[in-house]
Amino acid sequence: MMLRIVTLAAILSLPVVPCLAAADIAAGQEKAKPCLACHGENGVSSMPGIPSLAGQQDQFIQWQLVFFRNGRRPNPMMAPLIADITDQDIRDLGAYFHSLPYSTAASDVSPNPELAAKGKLVAQQHRCASCHKDDFRGERAAAAIADQREDYLVKALTDYRSTARPSTGVAAMTEAAAGLTDDDIVAVSHYLATLPPPKK
Ligand code: HEC
Ligand code: HEC
Repeated sequence: MMLRIVTLAAILSLPVVPCLAAADIAAGQEKAKPCLACHGENGVSSMPGIPSLAGQQDQFIQWQLVFFRNGRRPNPMMAPLIADITDQDIRDLGAYFHSLPYSTAASDVSPNPELAAKGKLVAQQHRCASCHKDDFRGERAAAAIADQREDYLVKALTDYRSTARPSTGVAAMTEAAAGLTDDDIVAVSHYLATLPPPKK
């Protein structure tokens, strides 16, 4: 029985990429330097179409880098940058960006309470929190989506719906986005982008 528990724990904590060495945040900081031009100093993006990475889930970042590298998530900006990236680089970069403080400054949109209320309803109806957690800051491979750039959230959901962006594993997001109308996407993105910081 003890052995089974240990084995399960070992499986649950398996890193995304085969592990040779532990992730190194300091090395990740060095390797991340070319990334900051687009993803922002401190990992908080101020550029349309470019997501913030500060405090993002480590596993989610690692998976996305694997997908950009192998072409499963096709992107002309990211692909050439990381074509030669190693698994160790991916672990270090995931650990580094995850270690940066989560910022609510990513989204510079002015809040529209009516639209946010509609978006909250969409999130409830589609049970977004069941995977992204109640504070929408994600867990493991499920991305943090609270306070992300609004324009990027709209793009991500539109890309999942059209299947231009494939989802991991059980195609969670392809299914979740399939039921969203254009209006739903605009509303839920506004809601997520303008969430107040969680009460501590
Ligand atoms: C030339 C600008 C540019 C540079 C430099 C850049 N990125 Fe990106 N990155 C993007 C864009 C644009 C996207 C969004 C792609 C999309 O629309 O799906 C992105 C997406 C990502 C994502 C997915 C995030 C998410 O929320 O889905 C990760 C992770 C990422 N980049 C990591 C990196 C890392 C690590 C580096 C440095 C090695 C880097 N990027 C350098 C432009 C850039
Ligand atoms: C069954 C679990 C599940 C549900 C339900 C779900 N998601 Fe996701 N979501 C995920 C996972 C897992 C990922 C990362 C998928 C990938 O690798 O592309 C993700 C990714 C995303 C992303 C991309 C984030 C980024 O930075 O690129 C957005 C935006 C998102 N989800 C929004 C939503 C919204 C809005 C809803 C409700 C309408 C929702 N999700 C429902 C599991 C889920």
